[in-house]
Order: sequence, then C-alpha cells, then structure tokens
Amino acid sequence: MSTRKTRALAAIAGTALLLGLGACSAERTETPADEETAAAGEEGGGLIGIAMPTRSLERWNKDGSNLETLLQDAGYETSLQYADNKVDQQITQLQNMINSGAEVLVIASIDGTALGPVLEDAASKDIKVIAYDRLINDTDNVDYYATFDNYQVGQEQGKFIEEQLGLADGAGPFNLEPFAGSPDDNNAKFFFSGAWDVLLPYVESGQLVTPSGKAPASNDDWASIGILGWGSDDAQAEMENRLNSFYSGGDKVDVVLSPNDSLALGIAQALESAGYAPGDGYPILTGQDADEANVKNMIAGKQSMTVWKDTRTLAQQVATMVDQVVTGADVDVNDTETYDNGNKVVPTYLLPPQVVTPDTIEQYLVESGYFTADQLGL
Ligand code: BGC
Repeated sequence: MSTRKTRALAAIAGTALLLGLGACSAERTETPADEETAAAGEEGGGLIGIAMPTRSLERWNKDGSNLETLLQDAGYETSLQYADNKVDQQITQLQNMINSGAEVLVIASIDGTALGPVLEDAASKDIKVIAYDRLINDTDNVDYYATFDNYQVGQEQGKFIEEQLGLADGAGPFNLEPFAGSPDDNNAKFFFSGAWDVLLPYVESGQLVTPSGKAPASNDDWASIGILGWGSDDAQAEMENRLNSFYSGGDKVDVVLSPNDSLALGIAQALESAGYAPGDGYPILTGQDADEANVKNMIAGKQSMTVWKDTRTLAQQVATMVDQVVTGADVDVNDTETYDNGNKVVPTYLLPPQVVTPDTIEQYLVESGYFTADQLGL
C-alpha cells in the first residue's frame, strides 16, 4: 500500500469516527464551483466532484457534507453541488466538474437514465464514476455503485406490517393504502418489490384490502402508484384524495405502506386533517431515512417505524472507494450480480439498513450520535 494511500485511508477512518461522535447537526454551506476549481490540480489529492440531487431532503444534506468532510480531510479538493431535483441542472453541474478536471465523480442521480451523454464525456477523459445511493442506468460509463440494500429496505417495511397486524396468523381483513417512490428513481422499484413480495400474498388472500383500488397487481406495476419527485405535498394530496373519495362512509385506514420519510410526512399530515389522532385507531405508517421531522413524528405516535440508512456509513464507504479508485487499489465491492443497469452489472458495495421503531430511537439514533437527545426533544 502506498504511503499516500495509507495516509488517506487513515484520514477517512479518523474523520468517520468524528462524524460518528455526533457531528451531524451542522449543515455545511455549498462551496461555489469556481472556488473549488481554483484549487483543483494543486498539491493534494485532486478534485472529486460530488453531485447530490436536492437540498430539500434532509438526508442528502447529510450525505453531501459527510462525504465532503471525509474527502477533504483525506487531502482531496471537492466540488459539492445540489441540483434542486432538476435533471438539466445536474447535467450542467457534472459538465462543469468534468471541465474543471475532476478525477472522480460521485453522483446521486435525479433521473438515473438521463446521464448517458455527460458520462460519455467523462469516460473520454478517463474520469471514473461512482453511483451514490441510486444506480445510474443505460450507460457503460458508471464504474461502481454504493448503496444500502434497497430491496431489504422494502422487505423490512413489509415484514413490519406483517408482524404488527398478525397477518401470518391469518388476521384481517385490514384496509391498506400503498404508496411507491418516484418513477424516475431506480431505487423505488426495489423498495416496492421488497415490500410487495411480503404483502401481495395477503392482498390476494383478502387479508389486506385496498378501498382506493390502488394496489398494484404485480411488482412491475409499482410506478402506477409512484409519487414523482418524492414530494411530501404530493403524497399528502394523494392521501387526502384517497381518504375523501374512498373512506367517506366511515371506513378507516389500518395501514399505509410509505416507501420513505418524505412521503410519510405528507401522509401523516393528511391523516391528521382527516381526524386520525395518535393512539388506538391510528394507522400503521412506514418510512425510511430517519429524517428528524419523522423521528419526532414517531415519538408523537404519528409514524410507526423508519428504515434508517446511516448516511455516515455510506459516505465513509464511498470516500474509501474514491481513494481506492484514485490510487489504483482494488475497490471494495460485495455484490457483483444484482445491479444490472441495462448495459452492464455494476460492481456494488451494499450496506445493511436498520429498522427503528419508537422504542429503539434512543438505542440506534441517539446513542450512535446521529441525533442528540435535545434535537429530538427527548
Ligand atoms: C433514497 C431514499 C430517499 C429517496 C428520496 C432514494 O433514492 O434511497 O433514501 O428517501 O431517494 O430522496
């Protein structure tokens, strides 16, 4: 192992430890690209472009700032950009990073199928690409992928519902309203398939009933109930619509499958407006990400669980992979079969997600320093 590599990896590991000790609250401000590029090519580890989808979701802010810190502490220059969920904006940002001489691009894509031409340009300049959290599709020019096991996220949500309702023991019928994520996000179908592989048999047996009729007949139909852009407001509007149209006769919703926390936030709002109060009779509501507002909702009895994906762990893994790419070392991967992007199977590092319920918030989210007790009002 070269000295530089040893030093860089040690720095990444050291910074990761610090991030683990509760340094997650401060949001770093975005560094303008031109300032970043001025530094590119100077002594140090070279420029790494980090393209994140949006600031509007808490997790991407954490992802971006954690990764930026780890890479900078390992001696790299970074250009961290957020694209306001706009595909064209993300492409322009990537093009700027390429023009500025980035060595590696780390990309959490908005639309995983829209980056072909810009990545062609990156490949022609021998710039390596790591897909971050979301796979990039229909191109040869993505070298590695790092993510949490997206199918497992959905499985955990499905299994939670199965257990809470006693479905395996034959209980039911219960009224279920399922939701799915953004149709342009490659992860969304994995989340839905994971959950639906658990729940569909109970829909077919009649133990789960969907008054709105919005229960996909198979995993492949998931996009029909997808919320484009993952917006809380859109999820709220959809839930209000279902409640007004299909539950006006006094029927009650027993369970809502929500693929993530941003949707769960809107769904909880719709439930509240329709008169559902925490306690008996409040539906089971799933989520993913452990966003602060949702963890507070869990404490208040307005959300039943979340699937936590520790953004510090993913950032640490990706920082390590960046360094391995730059130094020409073997790159850590643990799955070389699952993530076919339409052109090729992308070598992937998969991390395990963690279910958190109101009872385990302290254990997982506070003791690990992800949130302080104060932040959560505990
Ligand atoms: C991520 C989720 C996130 C969602 C919305 C997905 O690709 O894996 O963690 O909740 O996007 O931003």
